Amino acid sequence: MEQMIRVIKIRVATVGLVVKGKHKPMLKGQKVRLRAMTREDLERLCQFNNDVEVELAGGGDPPLPQSLARLQAEYDADLGRGGRNGTSFAIEADGLFIGGCALFQFDHVAHRCELGITIGDKNYWGQGYGTDAVRVLLDYAFRQHNLHRVYLSVNSTNPRAIGAYRRSGFVEEGRLRAHMWSNGQYIDLVQMGILRDEWAAIEKVDA
Ligand SMILES: CC(C)(COP(=O)(O)OP(=O)(O)OC[C@H]1O[C@@H](n2cnc3c(N)ncnc32)[C@H](O)[C@@H]1OP(=O)(O)O)[C@@H](O)C(=O)NCCC(=O)NCCS
Repeated sequence: MEQMIRVIKIRVATVGLVVKGKHKPMLKGQKVRLRAMTREDLERLCQFNNDVEVELAGGGDPPLPQSLARLQAEYDADLGRGGRNGTSFAIEADGLFIGGCALFQFDHVAHRCELGITIGDKNYWGQGYGTDAVRVLLDYAFRQHNLHRVYLSVNSTNPRAIGAYRRSGFVEEGRLRAHMWSNGQYIDLVQMGILRDEWAAIEKVDA
């Protein structure tokens, strides 16, 4: 699990944007726009990744320092491998890069994947931006990728994230007791998921 969270951080590490209206969004919500990542985003992303509060909320490994040079090297190496940007998106609001979100761990037999999100700009916490981004990502997962289930795990000490996931239709499916060491204490890891028909009922579309 810690490894999966690390994967998200590395992928999100290629996210970004600062210039208003410069990049065309791929997906639009009511408050956010999701688009591909760009190299010019990395400076702001570096600030997010070195913010201990943001990193602790994201879960996984203890916060580690990260240089802009490393972020840029990872971005360039990823670019050199070709292809598109996978299923990682920059989250934009008011023309500003505020964080990243992604689908990963795809299982094409069981039609499921994991979802991850980090809003690194704390000015945008607790105002519905995360919920909106998750809803856009769920629509993309179920409608475009024809998935059956989307799941995630979240620290029990993160009520803001749990609230946003619940509002988006995720339900708690289980809890790994004292599974994580976070900020000086053992904490539970909450498993959450949403099935395609549950999403369809919320969005009032055919499953
Ligand atoms: C988690 C995250 C994406 C949520 O996005 P957000 O825009 O802040 O959240 P929203 O405003 O959409 O929704 C938050 C919900 O939790 C509730 N909430 C917020 N703070 C809370 C708190 N301290 N205690 C209880 N509930 C809280 C809000 O009331 C809201 O629910 P409601 O609308 O039903 O009232 C964002 O805060 C973030 O990226 N945080 C840092 C990284 C992180 O935690 N990532 C998730 C790792 S699993």
